[in-house]
Amino acid sequence: MTDVTTATPVLEASDLVLEYRDAARTVRAVDGVSLTVGAGEFVGLVGPSGSGKSSLLFLLAGLRRPQEGRVAVLGEPLPAEPDRGAAIRRRRIGFLFQEPFLVPYLSVRENALVHAVDGEALARVEALAGEIGMAHLLDERPHRLSGGERQRAGILRALANAPELLLADEPTAALDGETGRAVMAVLRRRPAGAALIVVTHDPSMLEGADRVLALRDGRLRPLDRSGHGLDHP
Ligand SMILES: Nc1ncnc2c1ncn2[C@@H]1O[C@H](COP(=O)(O)OP(=O)(O)OP(=O)(O)O)[C@@H](O)[C@H]1O
Ligand SMILES: [Mg+2]
Repeated sequence: MTDVTTATPVLEASDLVLEYRDAARTVRAVDGVSLTVGAGEFVGLVGPSGSGKSSLLFLLAGLRRPQEGRVAVLGEPLPAEPDRGAAIRRRRIGFLFQEPFLVPYLSVRENALVHAVDGEALARVEALAGEIGMAHLLDERPHRLSGGERQRAGILRALANAPELLLADEPTAALDGETGRAVMAVLRRRPAGAALIVVTHDPSMLEGADRVLALRDGRLRPLDRSGHGLDHP
């Protein structure tokens, strides 16, 4: 068992604020969120549409910079400079979107390796492909895959660098229930010690989660573990 009381948290976010500003309006999408996630933890993130879930995930991934607050991954702050941020992101963080955004003219294997940072990524991707039923599809182009297979190809890419933090934004929303559950099973079996945060509208996808957090109006709210009634203010 990992000793989460003494180990450095995989993710530490404090007092995050993200506002979108344009001429017409200002939206405070994330409004003072603090969050600590330990090694191996599986955290679900739920909340109504527009509550800031994707915005928060982008901050945690370093894909956007907060106006206030800070994010550290394994004790290393995500730097303000985009280039250095990108290096940490690729090494430490895997990100899975609702649609996997695969490059159409590359094979599944090549897609999985587009952000590879070391020589071990290929062996890692091929081993993982065997575990998640994708080995026979590594040479295929994305358009010949089903939705669930495409999402698993996205998982191969997200895990190619053995990230310590895996973030997924509604990874099953475009899939039928059975395929969605299969994709979640793959995410749950992430590499040992990797922390997982999954945004979803479907509480049944969060079976086995250590914690479920609820966002409303950009703030974390208490939640009973059943997750009932979340989309009904
Ligand atoms: N690029 C943007 N520019 C301006 N406002 C934005 C932008 N992206 C999101 N917003 C606004 O920020 C708020 C939070 O949006 P966000 O996408 O984080 O919500 P969400 O919880 O992921 O919603 P959903 O469940 O529909 O995906 C919303 O009010 C949205 O309109
Ligand atoms: Mg969203």
